[in-house]
Amino acid sequence: MNADLVIAVDGPAASGKGTVAARLGRAYGLPVLDTGLLYRAVGVAASRAGIDPDDSEAVARVAGAIDLMALDDPAFRTREAGELASRVAIHPGVRAALNAAQVGFARRPGGAVLDGRDIGTVIAPWAPAKIFVTARPEVRAERRWRQLTAQGESVSLADVLGDIRQRDARDGGRADAPMARAPDAVLLDTSEMTIDHAADAARRIVEAARAGRA
Ligand code: C5P
Repeated sequence: MNADLVIAVDGPAASGKGTVAARLGRAYGLPVLDTGLLYRAVGVAASRAGIDPDDSEAVARVAGAIDLMALDDPAFRTREAGELASRVAIHPGVRAALNAAQVGFARRPGGAVLDGRDIGTVIAPWAPAKIFVTARPEVRAERRWRQLTAQGESVSLADVLGDIRQRDARDGGRADAPMARAPDAVLLDTSEMTIDHAADAARRIVEAARAGRA
């Protein structure tokens, strides 16, 4: 039933795209790849090796050697890892090193759900269903702040909002594969939505995309 059901979920930090992607994966019985974790893994591995995240060549070598199966390290979920990820994600060599694994995942028989920044534009522009999930920066900051605080991190809401704005600017402003809404992606603003609302809305978007292509 799911032949070629590839769902691209893009959007800024803490927009709800990860939750939406996970719910869609469950609803359609598809594997889900959180591609942000790949960049977080590279940022953390570079930092552990004492490599400057702005050193494009050294970080690209780290990306080429990363274990794409070992993405469940809690260290990848921290505020610092998000910041490192966004810095290493600027380098074209890093993006190139992570490209094949993502494209391979998207081409899995039966389909897949991928969430990130450039899934609908670069990794799987042919995906039949694309959603660009967003929310107001203040709403996203509060969500991320709650998540970080629950993880035991001590950080102010104002600092998290600052991070979010900086990350939006860096991810949207970089030259290589900037965060962007694909022309055929449907915008889903989750600012006023509960998780269940957002998941239902995403499912309707996917159903409409499937019906449109049938
Ligand atoms: O989604 P998440 O916040 O975990 O992503 C961390 C960072 O990784 C983003 O801020 C972005 O710089 C980078 N990223 C990317 N392309 C993707 C996924 C994440 O550049 N497909």
